[in-house]
Amino acid sequence: MDIAGKTALVTGAGAGIGLATGLRLAREGAAVVVADVDEDAGKAAAERIAEAGQASFVHADVTREADVAAMVEHAEREFGALDILVNNAGGYRQPVFGEASVEHWTRNLDLNLRAVMLGIHFALEAMRRRGAGAIVNVASTAGLGPEPHPGPEYATAKAAVMRLTACLAPLAGEGIRINCVCPYTVGTEAVLQTIGELKAEGRDLPEPLRAELLEPEEVAEAIVDLVRDDSAAGRVVKLVGGKPPEVI
Ligand SMILES: NC(=O)c1ccc[n+]([C@@H]2O[C@H](COP(=O)([O-])OP(=O)(O)OC[C@H]3O[C@@H](n4cnc5c(N)ncnc54)[C@H](O)[C@@H]3O)[C@@H](O)[C@H]2O)c1
Repeated sequence: MDIAGKTALVTGAGAGIGLATGLRLAREGAAVVVADVDEDAGKAAAERIAEAGQASFVHADVTREADVAAMVEHAEREFGALDILVNNAGGYRQPVFGEASVEHWTRNLDLNLRAVMLGIHFALEAMRRRGAGAIVNVASTAGLGPEPHPGPEYATAKAAVMRLTACLAPLAGEGIRINCVCPYTVGTEAVLQTIGELKAEGRDLPEPLRAELLEPEEVAEAIVDLVRDDSAAGRVVKLVGGKPPEVI
């Protein structure tokens, strides 16, 4: 897909990977809708992205069905279509499954899995009207492998996002390609702050983690590559700092 002139919606584009992706897509010539639950961060991000191209902010909590439907409508109303969706918003809050209330862990699960499904659900309607589209989901290496993870429902949701991506590959037959990036730890502002706090407590980052930390821009690059590559459908790309992207 040629990104120039297209409309892209990035969830959680107020910070971190989403912001880097929004900036990158705008530099490639897309009009970018910043969808974020944090009004201040989202508006500030849209202003930054507008310096590189066209941008518009829409307030959306992606765990809410009505907000997800409305953010897609916003893209179509503001820029005439929805061509690209990046299901990026995610993360988890303590306490986690095993300690947390059902309501709390359900919200973690909703943010990391159901929100991705809602995004695809409403984007499909818009993309079918257009006859084409590219969707990229942001999973995590938390969803891979046999090791325990400190956020069980987060890791489980991310694993499911990768399977969901693979299951939806046949939509490429309608011109709608769904792919996924699976990053290891990314040096976003929030992550760098946590690392700084650990350091201040004398708990330095283990060497393998430091070497494999990704830049948010590296994840944005992999997302843009998947949007561009018309042969990519149902693809999951693992990203680890210092290593080439790996299709898994
Ligand atoms: N940072 C990492 O180390 C890392 C590693 C692998 C995968 N990921 C994944 O990458 C994605 C982005 O992570 P990040 O580290 O850039 O996050 P971040 O915390 O830096 O930014 C997340 C953004 O999403 C927004 N957001 C949170 N909940 C939302 C909701 N319900 N509706 C709409 N917006 C919401 C926040 O307001 C914020 O602007 C997530 O899916 C995360 O799981 C992150």
